[in-house]
Amino acid sequence: MANKWWKESVVYQIYPRSFMDSNGDGIGDIPGIIARLDYLKLLGVDVIWLCPVYESPNDDNGYDISNYQSIMKEFGTIGDWERLLAEIHSRGMKLIMDLVVNHSSDEHAWFAESRKSKDNPYRDYYIWRPGKSGREPNDWGSFFSGSAWQYDEGTDEYFLHLFSKKQPDLNWDNPKLRREVYEMMTWWLDKGIDGFRMDVINLISKAPQMPSVGDGKGYHFGGEHFMNGPRVHEYLQEMNREVLSKYDVMTVGETIGVTPEEAALYVGEDRHELNMVFHFELMDVDSGPRGKWDVKPWELRDIKRIIAKWQTGLEGKGWNSLYLNNHDQPRMLSRFGDDTIYHKESAKMLATLLHTLQGTPYIYQGEELGMTNVKFASIDDYRDIETLNMYNEYVAAGQDVDAVMNAIYVKGRDNGRTPMQWDGTAHAGFTTGTPWIAVNPNYAHINAEQAVSDPDSIFHYYRQLIAIRRAHNVTGYASFRLLMEEDERIFAYVRTRGEEQLLVVLNFFGEPALFQLQEDIAFGRHELLICNYEVSGNPDIRTIALRPYEARVYKLQR
Ligand code: NOJ
Repeated sequence: MANKWWKESVVYQIYPRSFMDSNGDGIGDIPGIIARLDYLKLLGVDVIWLCPVYESPNDDNGYDISNYQSIMKEFGTIGDWERLLAEIHSRGMKLIMDLVVNHSSDEHAWFAESRKSKDNPYRDYYIWRPGKSGREPNDWGSFFSGSAWQYDEGTDEYFLHLFSKKQPDLNWDNPKLRREVYEMMTWWLDKGIDGFRMDVINLISKAPQMPSVGDGKGYHFGGEHFMNGPRVHEYLQEMNREVLSKYDVMTVGETIGVTPEEAALYVGEDRHELNMVFHFELMDVDSGPRGKWDVKPWELRDIKRIIAKWQTGLEGKGWNSLYLNNHDQPRMLSRFGDDTIYHKESAKMLATLLHTLQGTPYIYQGEELGMTNVKFASIDDYRDIETLNMYNEYVAAGQDVDAVMNAIYVKGRDNGRTPMQWDGTAHAGFTTGTPWIAVNPNYAHINAEQAVSDPDSIFHYYRQLIAIRRAHNVTGYASFRLLMEEDERIFAYVRTRGEEQLLVVLNFFGEPALFQLQEDIAFGRHELLICNYEVSGNPDIRTIALRPYEARVYKLQR
């Protein structure tokens, strides 16, 4: 596969609202990010992905955009943003922006026009339908609870919103809307940005008939009619031709419910659509049949199977993105590691996994410190619209409040949105005011100041992993082979590119485990590249007694 800068990069995701507040209003902002760029440079990341910073009424924290070409006032000005871009570039890093064009805010000027009358020139920028027998046009449910349709009195029709009712879906079948989006993208690219992360981009084409999917009662997931819809590839190829192909930029699409076969259609190097996608298969590994809030324990065998499937499924076809958490997910350490006794060891083990697979790794802010989930006592302390809507719906339906709170503790999006923990002072040094969401009380010992000063910290381990990736091209590009497939405690694999080979051995649990190399791998010498424990001597690596959450990466010489 062709060498590209974005294949050799490590991306760091910033959720601006929670990153760093410079003016004491309790909300992170762009000058705050600028003040922390040296920290990111020290970590060694190449690319920064900035979650939405556009003008927004913040029904969904900026994923509801009311003006795509201006900056949210809480975050600063366009001048601040331009300074941010310049400061990132002057440090040799790159910036990608979030592109949220499946929907806008209902406060966008287009929507204000659209709802005015059925013959308004902007009417077809959104998806309007008449009701059926006094009800919604179909039974689709929104991702954020309730119906995906909202009645609008003015014109006696309903508009579609797959997310909140303040996020009406844009109508991609309208060529004028597509043109507006391409012009807006071009405007940002001409300012010098280095690419886009595209929000739920595989939902932009809806099946025109929009049929109901359920049994006549309640609302149901209509994904089969809008995930990877009939014209999605046509639109992305058009976007690529009209906009992206003119710049040397990277793109990563958030794609709900895609398989590796479907992903290959988005990222195939001969397809001219996107560079990578975020898939959700791994993020669903602990969801029961009723979905995300139906929490079930994950099994290592499933994690291995899913990762192996994506590693081999895209090999030679397209590029993987690698992530274990982001602003929509619980903290990876609390979910897949141990955020108590083996906090440091398990955080390092998970990091080793992320940074030794084929693809581009994404670090979510605070992951490099081992930030953890949070348990707020009251629902009043939560801010996320998905969480709050679910809570209201479930409690109104008679579910046990404690059970609902427990599901929020495990899966809620606010787990990943508490303020970045900079130091041990009030509010973790995030703000001098009152933060928009409370900090995780563990900031006294989990914080950046402590991590940077401790050579054995998770932070410095990430630095080492990034340096290894840079020194050994094999890490990103090589092929993947799973070892000990059925083993329930150890995740081990070999990465091979030409004469270069890496052996990665991970103990996924808090008890000792025995690694035994049974497969026929010919190698002469081996060199330990990294381990999250002290290793003495140069042992025979065909059998390794692994300590709790131990992770080792060897370079094998044939
Ligand atoms: C995915 C984003 O990551 C999430 O935060 C948002 O709520 C939805 N898309 C809707 O934009």
